[in-house]
Amino acid sequence: MIPQIEPWIDEEELKEITEVIKSTWLTEGEKTKEFEEMFRDLTGAKFAHAFCNGTATLFTTLKVLGVGEGDEVIVPNLTFTASINTILFAGAKPILVDVDKRTFNIDPDLIEGKITSKTKAIMPVHLYGQSADIDKIMKIAKEHNLFVVEDAAQGVGVKFNGQHVGTFGDFGSFSFYGNKTITTGEGGLLITNDEKLAFDSYAFKNHGRLKKGVFVHDKIGFNFSFTEMQAAIGLAQMRKLDKIIKLKEKIRNLYLAQLKDILEVELTFIDPRCSPVHWFTNIIVLDPVKLAEFLKEKGIQTRRFFYPIHKQPCYQNLKFGDNFPNSQYAYEHGLSLPSSVLLKEEEIAKVCEEIKNFYRDSN
Ligand SMILES: Cc1ncc(COP(=O)(O)O)c(C=O)c1O
Repeated sequence: MIPQIEPWIDEEELKEITEVIKSTWLTEGEKTKEFEEMFRDLTGAKFAHAFCNGTATLFTTLKVLGVGEGDEVIVPNLTFTASINTILFAGAKPILVDVDKRTFNIDPDLIEGKITSKTKAIMPVHLYGQSADIDKIMKIAKEHNLFVVEDAAQGVGVKFNGQHVGTFGDFGSFSFYGNKTITTGEGGLLITNDEKLAFDSYAFKNHGRLKKGVFVHDKIGFNFSFTEMQAAIGLAQMRKLDKIIKLKEKIRNLYLAQLKDILEVELTFIDPRCSPVHWFTNIIVLDPVKLAEFLKEKGIQTRRFFYPIHKQPCYQNLKFGDNFPNSQYAYEHGLSLPSSVLLKEEEIAKVCEEIKNFYRDSN
């Protein structure tokens, strides 16, 4: 099977993690600090804290900003459910906004129509490795005095007008789940330029205190700590990031070149202001289900786009309505092709060949 995605793990990670095991220091320590520093260097943010996963990270940003009961948070309708769940568990109400039909990121022109006296924050999601239109979003947020939490779970390495995503708003939140651009197995990290938010978010993930080994707690907190094993893998992954970004671009270019003559297949549009990291190479087709089934039979794994939030069975009691045509379009027509950096050129050629066969056979 050609997998849709798989992590690039080798001797580099093994060497780092062996050091951790030999040191016997398994909880957050020097390697975690080094990993956070690498993230500050990558993004240019002043503060970075590693977390056990990206959901805990996002949740913490909302709690620290004081988002809670009676508040509304604006969020795109096409995202992973974690974005919505963190808002719900913070006690606030998610207000869904449809996505742009070309970038599949939140449509900034629809945001103002959803702002009410209860709106406290906007949570744009930088989907599939492409930045949302963060300039417009920040302008709206400033005009209406709203917080911005950037869900950059899929946005490691992604820039908008030369600036790394996650550094525009009050917080940026990343995920290092196994299928992400870089992985630590599970893992997350937040960045901020605000010292108070940095202290508060560190305390929130560390039982409400600024140091470990202290048992007088000024605040109520959770335990969302990272581990040195995660940091070890993360360090090796961060050293590969430049190569990963280049390989992802090469993969997309190979698909682009080999699929360009198939009129039924269109690669998704990239906003020229964005320097993307093609976490996935995505295509738009008439019937992704039939194409995915055909490719599966040929040993090729693909993935459909996110199921729109308003359709998710788990949110039916929230009555989001049904007016999200572009998210619906994305789900009905989007397909993510195999996009692992471990893919061989012959494998990409095989995927393209089989896509050609599918359209030749069905015409
Ligand atoms: C858009 C988005 N937000 C949040 C998350 C949550 O991250 P994690 O899986 O690390 O908890 C993910 C990833 O899985 C995601 O894709």
